[in-house]
Amino acid sequence: MKIPAKGLSRDAVMQALEDYGQQDLPWREGGTFAYVYEGGRDVEDVVKTAYMRYLTENALDPTVYPSLLRFENDIVAMAINHLRGDAECVGNFTSGGTESCLLAVKAARDYARSERGIAEPEIILPVTAHACFQKAAHYFDMKMRLVEVDPATWKVRPEDMAAAINENTILMVGSACQYAHGVIDPIPELGALALERNLLLHVDGCIGGFVLPYFRRLGASVTDFDFAVPGVTSMSMDFHKYGYAAKGASVVLYRSKELRRHQIFTAATWTGYSVINPTIQSTKSGGPLAACWAVLNYLGDEGYMRFAERKLHATRIIADALRAHPDVELLAEPESCLIAFTSDQFSIFPIVDAMRRRGWFVQPQLGYMGSKENIHLSIDQSTIDVVDRFLPDLNASIAEAKGVNEEVIPAPMKAMLGALDASLFTPETYQQLMAAAGTSDGLPEGTTAINSMLNAMKPEVAQKVMTEFFNDLYVPSGG
Ligand SMILES: Cc1ncc(COP(=O)(O)O)c(C=O)c1O
Repeated sequence: MKIPAKGLSRDAVMQALEDYGQQDLPWREGGTFAYVYEGGRDVEDVVKTAYMRYLTENALDPTVYPSLLRFENDIVAMAINHLRGDAECVGNFTSGGTESCLLAVKAARDYARSERGIAEPEIILPVTAHACFQKAAHYFDMKMRLVEVDPATWKVRPEDMAAAINENTILMVGSACQYAHGVIDPIPELGALALERNLLLHVDGCIGGFVLPYFRRLGASVTDFDFAVPGVTSMSMDFHKYGYAAKGASVVLYRSKELRRHQIFTAATWTGYSVINPTIQSTKSGGPLAACWAVLNYLGDEGYMRFAERKLHATRIIADALRAHPDVELLAEPESCLIAFTSDQFSIFPIVDAMRRRGWFVQPQLGYMGSKENIHLSIDQSTIDVVDRFLPDLNASIAEAKGVNEEVIPAPMKAMLGALDASLFTPETYQQLMAAAGTSDGLPEGTTAINSMLNAMKPEVAQKVMTEFFNDLYVPSGG
């Protein structure tokens, strides 16, 4: 494909955009239990209008866009207040949870290099910490130590974190809450450990940090997890999740400027303009900043409280229904608005496709380190309006999955997949596996076969399969 020789009309371009979107996940009216956080039409309008107003402004240089600097400092101040930080706390607006966590790790690494002379820094992660911390270790070429969690609660045990500390350790991570099972790590104990061993502690509140203070005010039992806990040195919190901002909105916060200094990249050693980048992006649209500022001011504390109440209510209804269901079980008692459930009688993967046929998106999670394959539900404020339709469809889909049972992949194939060796894996192995999964070019028809196959493999092999899948998916359009 080439750039069209002549431009199309505005109408033709817009029509094409609409046409291309027809196959996308329909997210309005609460049908999706991951990826999309829906604040309703009025919130959407405020966000889009604010975004468009500042779309073209460039947050690369805050000195020439005082508006964008103001939005950022306001948003960060609200975030610090929400997470009970004090006047010493600072932070930055980032493009998302991953960027916030990458920056926290980078700042920790450079702080440890400069203050403690540590040349080969290591980070300690519960296996439930979001994969973006593994990405940070990978990108920054740092060693990570993965710590198993308590299989009864899915929370990390402080003594296991302590056992993983060595002279190169610079940072521990805890989650509030962790995505997979929706529970909060014992942050006060981790904070005490961090202080005792003179380590940094990052609390990842990307998904839970915004909503949990509201749940606490609604009377839910919420472990202390924020800057009120001594020993917590940095935090991440996303606004593009339960803050209902446009995508590209998160903050990374530090207890002091001493630590944040190490986040900032500056370069005067080239021939161009001086580069001063607090975050990973350099040129960046002012749209996400303006939209985030706008939604925070539009909904206000009262609006977010109303949404939190609806989320809490919907979570309790769905958790109660799953707890009472004879064929499935909750992996953990929800401590936020995230739910994971599984079955010890049959494979749960067919539920994903069965729900998709009924117009819902629920998210499969592969098994790892004792956490059995399961289905994740991120409950939204809009869920409460659809819960009466959702539960019967979920029950019917569970019944369907129970019927499919063992036929998903035959036992000999499961054994063969489990025996695959990552070091012997080639692109040809991938093609053979895809053929066995019955996929045509592009996206697989359903997800059941592929998820079942991935789940049967060692994680290192599954990772290779997924890399090949994306390497094949992003190919330039022909014609
Ligand atoms: C706990 C946690 N941390 C980090 C992330 C990564 O956030 P993002 O997808 O915005 O990069 C997520 C995403 O769901 C999350 O739940």
